[in-house]
Amino acid sequence: NVDACGIIALPKISDPRGNLTFIEGGDHIPFDIRRVYYLYDVPGGAERGGHAHKGLQQLIVAMSGSFDIVLDDGVNKKRIHLNRSNFGLYVCPMIWRELDNFSSGSVCMVLASNKYDEDDYYRNYDEYLAARGVSK
Ligand code: TYD
Repeated sequence: NVDACGIIALPKISDPRGNLTFIEGGDHIPFDIRRVYYLYDVPGGAERGGHAHKGLQQLIVAMSGSFDIVLDDGVNKKRIHLNRSNFGLYVCPMIWRELDNFSSGSVCMVLASNKYDEDDYYRNYDEYLAARGVSK
């Protein structure tokens, strides 16, 4: 459920020449990284997400700018604002997510535990609720 998701503080090497953050799969995050993708040039007011994954685990990082992520397990929802490059939001499997409130120029990077697989998606909210055993 949404309580299994949360913010992970990533290592940060502070330096007057600029800060450095790194992420090692299985060490700083609870999965090995098999894919990286990023959202950018998101127009004002746009919404992304609107689906859940059956098995995929993800870490979402605001590499630049800020945005909100709404996590929903069919019973509870929580809205999380991401705006720092050294914090990531861990999203476990079977969580419906929506992303909105993107600031201009923001970049949303996602580390994923598996390669892209459309069969891993629930794109219909009612089907997702049924799979979770939640009655409307
Ligand atoms: P989608 O996962 O729905 O985007 P978001 O959750 O960020 O709103 O994917 C949008 C489209 O991009 C969809 O047609 C599938 C494609 N896609 C890939 O081909 N590879 C990928 O790794 C991802 C994440 C999406």
